[in-house]
Amino acid sequence: MGIDRDQHKVDNVLAGRAPFYEPGLEDLVRDNVAAGRLSASTSASGIADAQVVLVCVGTPSEKNGNLGLSQLRRAMDEVAGQLSGRLAPLIVAIRSTVFPGTCEEVVLPALAGHKQVSVVSNPEFLREGSAVADFMEPSLLVVGGSGQAAVRQVADLYAPLEVTACLVSLRAAEMIKYACNAFHAVKISFANEIGALSEKLGIDAHEVMHTLCEDTKLNISPAYLKPGFAFGGSCLPKDLRALAYRTRTLDLKLPLLESALPSNEEHLKRAIDSVLNLETRKIGVIGLAFKENTDDLRESPVVNLLEQLIGKGRDVRVFDPHIRMDAIYGSNRNFILESIPHISRLLAANLEELLGWADDLVLAQKQSAGTMERIRASGLPTIALVDGAVQPSLAGAQS
Ligand SMILES: NC(=O)c1ccc[n+]([C@@H]2O[C@H](COP(=O)([O-])OP(=O)(O)OC[C@H]3O[C@@H](n4cnc5c(N)ncnc54)[C@H](O)[C@@H]3O)[C@@H](O)[C@H]2O)c1
Repeated sequence: MGIDRDQHKVDNVLAGRAPFYEPGLEDLVRDNVAAGRLSASTSASGIADAQVVLVCVGTPSEKNGNLGLSQLRRAMDEVAGQLSGRLAPLIVAIRSTVFPGTCEEVVLPALAGHKQVSVVSNPEFLREGSAVADFMEPSLLVVGGSGQAAVRQVADLYAPLEVTACLVSLRAAEMIKYACNAFHAVKISFANEIGALSEKLGIDAHEVMHTLCEDTKLNISPAYLKPGFAFGGSCLPKDLRALAYRTRTLDLKLPLLESALPSNEEHLKRAIDSVLNLETRKIGVIGLAFKENTDDLRESPVVNLLEQLIGKGRDVRVFDPHIRMDAIYGSNRNFILESIPHISRLLAANLEELLGWADDLVLAQKQSAGTMERIRASGLPTIALVDGAVQPSLAGAQS
């Protein structure tokens, strides 16, 4: 039963016609209305026999950019209005795109007092123009909620489709929709900015992006997609700076590419603030190079972290299994001596020495399972700045 307050849409469905153009939809509506599987109504009383209500009302932008929730609030009031005297359980699945927290702050309160109702988030990922095909072959199926039975029941609606349901928390489901759309927008803008720069340089942009996509290990892959510590090292910051400088000289504006370094700096600032918020003074930092399994200190965000902590009067010592001052040389040595001249005094000879000295630990690099075990056994409070504390593989490392 499709319920819409728009009489025109309902009339169309009842007549076996799609109420708007979408490839393949007309046939589906006609066949299913004819077979008695699909009906439509303008009245919310249509949910009387429903076990699940899929809510997909509009959530348009307000003038200030905020999400307009008036359709959702009204729809929830209408659902609540149908619940008095109802004994059968009802699942309300929110398919509209709503900001994280909306199910808890808007939907649940509107249905409060109706104990037979469970609320789940089941965001929609289809694209207009290929909506039917996207529905039949979903790119992603997400169901979020705290009631396991309700979450499972909504996931089971899609059982005939070849997709594995991702069962997550209510807020995570709402957030995933925003993360996906933001990711798509960033991908498009990235391709367009690389395209604009390539064109300006007389390079075939399609050849560039096509070749970029050939790399399924680092480019089109989960690599670099885990929230963690800021990036650093001898390549990314240097190359992004050169890109930003050259685009300016070409009179090009590429705000996405130019924002990567400032974004990284903000991220580092958040990490530094979280360490500065520690009440204790003796802070042991594990990891000094810009990532694990290297002794490259150039543009290591940990060096910035140390500078800030020392500057704010914190007592800091650091351990990195791959750094011995007598073994590093050249630009690497110059960089660290310029940034932290007294670095040798801060370096702990081994992990045990650091663990015996510190009140708090900061994990600035992924560590082996053995090292993590020793850190846990120390019982010291630990701030992990890196994604997942245990080093999974070299392929997953930020570079
Ligand atoms: N359009 C897409 O491709 C797409 C994809 C993914 C997610 N979404 C999300 O899905 C939601 C719906 O998007 P849309 O493009 O279909 O919006 P839309 O405005 O085209 O359709 C919403 C429908 O809800 C109806 N409606 C509103 N309040 C109602 C009520 N109280 N009772 C019955 N019907 C009511 C409206 O009459 C309208 O027909 C939005 O949150 C959107 O962000 C859309």
